[in-house]
Amino acid sequence: MSEPETIVIIGAGVIGLSTALHIQQYLSPNQSVLLVARDFPSDTSVNYTSPWAGAHYRPVPGSSPQVIREANQAQRTYEFMKRVAAHEPAAGVKFVQGIEHLEAPPREYEDAESLRNAHAGLDEYRRLSSSEVPSGVKWGIQYKTWVLNSPVYIAYMLRKFILKGGRTRQYVLGNLKEGFFLERNVRTVVHCSGLGFEDPKSFIIRGQTCLVRNPVSATITRQNKDGTWSFCIPRPLDGGTVIGGTKEPGNWDPNPSMETRATLLANAKKWFPFTLESGGEFDVIRDIVGRRPAREGGMRIEVEKMNDGRQVVHAYGAGGRGYEISRGVAEDTVALMLENGLLREKAAL
Ligand SMILES: Cc1cc2nc3c(=O)[nH]c(=O)nc-3n(C[C@H](O)[C@H](O)[C@H](O)COP(=O)(O)OP(=O)(O)OC[C@H]3O[C@@H](n4cnc5c(N)ncnc54)[C@H](O)[C@@H]3O)c2cc1C
Ligand SMILES: *[C@@H]1O[C@H](CO)[C@@H](O)[C@H](O)[C@H]1NC(C)=O
Ligand SMILES: *[C@@H]1O[C@H](CO)[C@@H](O)[C@H](O)[C@H]1NC(C)=O
Repeated sequence: MSEPETIVIIGAGVIGLSTALHIQQYLSPNQSVLLVARDFPSDTSVNYTSPWAGAHYRPVPGSSPQVIREANQAQRTYEFMKRVAAHEPAAGVKFVQGIEHLEAPPREYEDAESLRNAHAGLDEYRRLSSSEVPSGVKWGIQYKTWVLNSPVYIAYMLRKFILKGGRTRQYVLGNLKEGFFLERNVRTVVHCSGLGFEDPKSFIIRGQTCLVRNPVSATITRQNKDGTWSFCIPRPLDGGTVIGGTKEPGNWDPNPSMETRATLLANAKKWFPFTLESGGEFDVIRDIVGRRPAREGGMRIEVEKMNDGRQVVHAYGAGGRGYEISRGVAEDTVALMLENGLLREKAAL
């Protein structure tokens, strides 16, 4: 008889959890999954990015290999989120109107192919005419998109993983190779740690947002001509609204700046259709600071073969788009594992 085998997954952020759930569909009877992480949903470390995300899906135009790969992953995730929103209300995913307003559209917003790469497949997509956009805005679109309550969504995925027989262990690895020693027969480590282990291409992008009680019905993103961003993202299941936000590569400050908060809220008050039930003021729940795990050139999704026949499957470096591309990343990672014989083709159950 074949010996039981443990597949170790490192990381319980949106990437590790999405990948773990997808892997569970392709296990042989002698395989099981152990999810190992320093932080799990309900933990709140500044180094654990997933609970701090908005999160919404805002397609990114362009024509670089990274943009094209991510657009494809995001499109598959969009279709997946339709099924989640329809069938799993406890997941905290909802489709709402997505609106984008650009004061000074960068070049890729004038290029038809770059736009098509990102916007293909969006429901109810429409370019906004100049009379429909606020003053100062040169370019606008609207479409149906999803928003999700990130702490709720990762907790939901963890619950589902455990219900399907997944096991968890809270543990801090000092080196990736430690993963092979966490149980008796580990031949595959799936690596979803966000930043990776001493990858020189990895870097953080700090994000500060402010969570308020005031509700809003759409997710709106405004790209300002000075390069800053303003957005609002309603969090389903009465999670309030995230008002953002900054993108600060290499800034390790873990503390929220009160000046940044004031700017974010002042812009949101000017530009977004909040109802004034709080007397025209925002009712702040908390400031949020997160570190997006970015990587030059985009995510590393790759099998690395060790000398002894063991294999690491890398899936890290999602940057600011971990939720948007999560399902596509999980599918691509499982496809690589199938190609390398690490999982079995789905049995006709
Ligand atoms: C303010 C803000 C807004 C955002 N908005 C959006 C949005 O609207 N849409 C969107 O798609 N994305 C958004 N993001 C980005 C998104 O949050 C990230 O892309 C995503 O959370 C990355 O997920 P991850 O699983 O790769 O990493 P993480 O969530 O950081 O998870 C990493 C996991 O690896 C574990 N780990 C790391 N090192 C070790 C170790 N040595 N030993 C054991 N375990 C380890 C951690 O404990 C954790 O469990 C936003 C981010 C921020 C900060
Ligand atoms: C698990 O079973 C499959 C056949 O179902 C076999 O190919 C594989 O080698 C087994 N794995 C281990 C670790 O014994
Ligand atoms: C977050 O990570 C940095 C860099 O590895 C480390 O210096 C810091 O102590 C960590 N912070 C927390 C709260 O764990």
